[in-house]
Amino acid sequence: MRILLYRGDGVIEPWARDFAALLPQAEMVVWDEHHELAPCDYAILWSPPPALLGQLAHVKAIFLMGAGVDAILKFGAALPDVPVIRLGDAGMGAQMVEYVAYTVLRYFRRFDEYEEQARLGVWNPLAPRNKEEFAVGVLGLGKLGVPVVRALRQLGFPVRGWSRTAKDIPDVDCFAGMDALDAFLAGTQVLVCMLPLTPETTNLLDRARLSKLPKGAYLVNVARGAQLADPDLMALIRSGHIAGATLDVFRNEPLPAPHPFWGEPRVTITPHISALTVRKEAVRQIADKIALLERGGQVADVVDLDRGY
Ligand SMILES: NC(=O)c1ccc[n+]([C@@H]2O[C@H](COP(=O)([O-])OP(=O)(O)OC[C@H]3O[C@@H](n4cnc5c(N)ncnc54)[C@H](OP(=O)(O)O)[C@@H]3O)[C@@H](O)[C@H]2O)c1
Repeated sequence: MRILLYRGDGVIEPWARDFAALLPQAEMVVWDEHHELAPCDYAILWSPPPALLGQLAHVKAIFLMGAGVDAILKFGAALPDVPVIRLGDAGMGAQMVEYVAYTVLRYFRRFDEYEEQARLGVWNPLAPRNKEEFAVGVLGLGKLGVPVVRALRQLGFPVRGWSRTAKDIPDVDCFAGMDALDAFLAGTQVLVCMLPLTPETTNLLDRARLSKLPKGAYLVNVARGAQLADPDLMALIRSGHIAGATLDVFRNEPLPAPHPFWGEPRVTITPHISALTVRKEAVRQIADKIALLERGGQVADVVDLDRGY
């Protein structure tokens, strides 16, 4: 069996070593743009160039070394007509739980305000918030959204979730579809975006939608930067309608130096680290799926190309 391994960041060696340990029968192939690619059974990719995709028409499947699929689906018709398989949770759910729980607790316990007070040398206990009035709303109830809503429930927050198709999650107020979005937003004190980037979710978080949140609400975006209209968020923060935002993802990454988010103390910036690919987990998951496909089985996490995630 021949398996092509490609990463846009060029970090191939540790991945090749881990795959070779779990799939000793496979020959790991590295792409060289100056030579025609010999036929391979599978391709395992992260951030591939279009020139490489054009040579993959004969693979049995393409595996992605991540959960987000927008970076490959953007190639549209240039994508070969083979199954594309994303990572499932693979250790990212636990990281998302840590990031979102920390951020919600930071706002709930007003640590953002205490950090500012400490910078100014101010000692001023603030009124505690009421948890019952601090509902967290999670956009996207998928592989990563579900562990997050469960963890927030365990912390005692009222939790609501929004997805495309209807869901039934114990103790979570579930909303589905565009028609239910305004009602979902109206009761959300902390909005957490965990949606895939698709034509429907691009610019979803614009001025009109964010204005539906109650005054003083917070925003957390751990999904994709293009889902948020940056100038609209800045305007709503300056007007006081949005009290603060924690953003891990941006339209352009790294976030360019002149971007107004950098200078806004009510915006907390992290460099796309909320859930990193855990190599060992990812390699084990992909190797298991290749073994299953080779036995003629069906694997989970096949991307629906029409749906866009
Ligand atoms: N910042 C980071 O480090 C990082 C790391 C990993 C992933 N991510 C991001 O996190 C996103 C979510 O990951 P995931 O694995 O949880 O995705 P997923 O399993 O594909 O789940 C996506 C969820 O979004 C919902 N959805 C999609 N389109 C929608 C629409 N138009 N309206 C309403 N709901 C919609 C889906 O609804 P249905 O359930 O009804 O289908 C599903 O619940 C990824 O796509 C990626 O962008 C970020």
